[in-house]
Amino acid sequence: MTDPRETVTLEIEGPVALIAFDNPPVNAASHALREGLATCLDRALADAEVQVIVLYGRGRAFIAGADIREFGKPPRAPILRDLVHRLEALEKPVISVLHGVALGGGLEVALATHARVGIAGLRVGLPEVALGILPGAGGTQRAPRLVGIPAAIEMITSGRHVPAEEALELGLIDRLETGDPRGVALAAARDVLEGRLPTRRVGEIEVAAAPEAIEMAKERIAAKSPHLFSPVSCVEAIAASSRPIDEGMAEERRLFQQCLDSPQRAGLIHAFFAERATTKIPEADATPRELGRIGVIGGGTMGSGIATAALLAGCEVRLNERDAEALERGRATVAKNLDGAVKRGKLAAEKRDAAEGRLAASTALEDFADVDLVIEAVYEDMDVKKAIFRTLDGICRPGAVLATNTSYLDIDAIAAETGRPEDVIGLHFFSPAHVMRLLEVVVADRTAPEVVATGFELAKRLKKVPVRAGVCDGFIGNRILTHYRKAADYLVLDGASPEQVDDALEGFGFAMGPFRVADLAGGDIGWATRKRRAPTRPAEERYSEIPDRIAERGWFGRKTGRGYYDYSGDAPVPTPEVAEIVAAERDRAGVTPRDFTDEVIVERYMTAMVSEAVRVLEGGIARRPIDIDATFLFGYGFPRFRGGPMHYADTVGAAELVARIERYATDDPHFWQVPDMLRRMARDGATFAELNEEA
Ligand code: CAA
Repeated sequence: MTDPRETVTLEIEGPVALIAFDNPPVNAASHALREGLATCLDRALADAEVQVIVLYGRGRAFIAGADIREFGKPPRAPILRDLVHRLEALEKPVISVLHGVALGGGLEVALATHARVGIAGLRVGLPEVALGILPGAGGTQRAPRLVGIPAAIEMITSGRHVPAEEALELGLIDRLETGDPRGVALAAARDVLEGRLPTRRVGEIEVAAAPEAIEMAKERIAAKSPHLFSPVSCVEAIAASSRPIDEGMAEERRLFQQCLDSPQRAGLIHAFFAERATTKIPEADATPRELGRIGVIGGGTMGSGIATAALLAGCEVRLNERDAEALERGRATVAKNLDGAVKRGKLAAEKRDAAEGRLAASTALEDFADVDLVIEAVYEDMDVKKAIFRTLDGICRPGAVLATNTSYLDIDAIAAETGRPEDVIGLHFFSPAHVMRLLEVVVADRTAPEVVATGFELAKRLKKVPVRAGVCDGFIGNRILTHYRKAADYLVLDGASPEQVDDALEGFGFAMGPFRVADLAGGDIGWATRKRRAPTRPAEERYSEIPDRIAERGWFGRKTGRGYYDYSGDAPVPTPEVAEIVAAERDRAGVTPRDFTDEVIVERYMTAMVSEAVRVLEGGIARRPIDIDATFLFGYGFPRFRGGPMHYADTVGAAELVARIERYATDDPHFWQVPDMLRRMARDGATFAELNEEA
């Protein structure tokens, strides 16, 4: 255990007590930090010479919030809420000097001090909502007292990081300075002593009630995040800030505890760590190669999306297409994507033209001789891809990384076409590639560790979430998707309508149900894949022909105006023609339709997802359950508050999952098979969380 005296230090300089936090990497308010703060405060208060106390942080931040790893464990005194309460009540003035970030519990500590001095570059915020909780150490009571209820609602329900200048304007900080935290702390303390920096207790400020703002916020949340528990609790806690602080704090505490007990809190915190866990790979110590110039082959949706992502990250990009016309289309798509990025606030308007200026276009692969990384993103045809890699092998400089964006194909076979298989890797982006955060980094048999590290470095520059995957048909995500999509198709063949399946899964929290996703992605891609796989389909596999019947009519979804739904009006609507196709296929397959409740739909779909995910783990395609969770959270619209498929599996339990599979297997023993690993886990009472910890 860390010595609390090291995590927090006290230094006395005449009448000034400097209390410094030193808990790398981000000064989370862990038990050691809280204990250290309490001890240092005691000592500073006991020293009769001390007239003012200043809190500041060493390293990257003031305090980035409570230590998230402690949530869900029994609380250990001193708890932050009590510390903050004590701080505000002190007779000796206590001030805080904030640099880097002051987030969550960190900002709450600062709000309880009697004045706040920011250092340029600071960001403050109360981002607890993203973790399924609310600011539980007075943030919902003190922030409104400084900024008013409407601004506090915006800040706390969005969880956004507020830049220093805005924090000053809003009144969250009293001053903005430049300099090193200790120096600024000493100067600010002198200003307090000499009356140049006024001090006060924020808890004593009165705040006007704002019933309209409260109602509007609740309506907005109900429309935007109907599944989420904590945003409404945040608003309710903020509403209590117009009451005396002790009453408001009691209400905040009650609501905080409810959030803490909610399964959504566990799911969202798991998602927070999943986002960061994926970079912990065996190749983490390898040195990435150069990444200055990036070549992209293929100017279709995928290629232009990848080119856009690289341009947005400041890279120089060369785009290649077969002919001038296709190249022009690719260029135009990139230009449109960049405009979209400006509109979405992802790219400053004045930087847009420079980004486009970094794009060079060419129809000659010879122009790729000096690029550092090539990403091939042409259509899914093995022969075409092999030919491209043979050409690249002859053209690219030694040491260049040769990547394919294939979604399903065998990367070992592609690598074998070159004389440098160690330089070949899969970089599987998700469409739209400049928006979706997932990047599967697919490591082939002979890929060199530095090439894997380069894939992860690229993800970092592109602000993506990289997941290390092995080679198989579909890697992690699409392999699992292929399996649970079949479960959705069987549900329709057996009696549910596509819209009932979509609605049930959207009710569970998915951004979109599988049939609405198919219509968005375009039915032609799945159709081509099914045709490719038809020769290897096992004879005992049930096969629903409904998707083929729809695709044969040219109904590829949104882009053709119809698919499972009709898109001619404002909103997609189910059609009688699709219902007829479904009925005819049920007849042909000799199925007597049955009723499925939404609950059963979700259970079957999720169980199919988990069972294939377990096979992906068994086969070593994913290294850890948490990598699968990240894949689905950042690439497949999996509801973040449910943490990912493996986190969900733990909430159900391996024994129950085995029981479900065995029950469903009475109808279809080929599709519903219990993976060995899941059976062992059920027997041992093991969880996927334990596997994450062991890995
Ligand atoms: N507790 C524990 N660990 C934390 C943490 C926290 N509050 N914040 C960050 N970390 C860890 C990360 O897990 C990561 O660990 P690894 O290196 O082992 O992966 C490390 O610190 C660095 O974090 P990032 O990779 O995210 O670094 P960054 O520079 O990109 O971002 C950050 C830094 C802005 C602080 C970001 O980490 C962040 O947003 N953290 C969460 C802040 C937060 O939500 N605070 C509120 C906590 S809840 C609370 O305070 C409740 C309350 O009211 C009492």
